[in-house]
Amino acid sequence: MTYEPWDEGVATAMLEPFTSDATLVLVALQALQARFGFVPEAAVPLVAHTCNVSRADVHGVLSFYHELRTQPPATREVRVCRAEACQAVGARDIERAFADAGHPVGSRTSALAVDAVYCLGNCALGPTVEIDGAVHGRCDTDIVREALR
Ligand code: FES
Repeated sequence: MTYEPWDEGVATAMLEPFTSDATLVLVALQALQARFGFVPEAAVPLVAHTCNVSRADVHGVLSFYHELRTQPPATREVRVCRAEACQAVGARDIERAFADAGHPVGSRTSALAVDAVYCLGNCALGPTVEIDGAVHGRCDTDIVREALR
């Protein structure tokens, strides 16, 4: 996925429809992330001012929703399901394999980010791993090789 480089002027113009509506903080942050790939720190005061909320309110939303990134996305984004159904069929082995390859869950480089997620809606076909938005079911540790390719 390709994103535009951060541009405060563009962001300000984008946020205009959210003016003075505190209920739209999440939507505003999602819109910024969809365009720029992440929500930089510089966006926080813009969203706060536009939506007429405090910066702390914006930080609260930003830190609560794991889908919102405050860093540019890695070239490859991996999410390993850690919820119960996937754990019961081997998700921990996959996590361990990522760790053994030098990419434990929670690690992030510009090339690869590996995160945990708690259910991808693919429970019957677990263990489930998402790579760049594509959900893979019935995974084994071979998925690590595919993710690192
Ligand atoms: S528990 Fe892993 S996809 Fe639902």
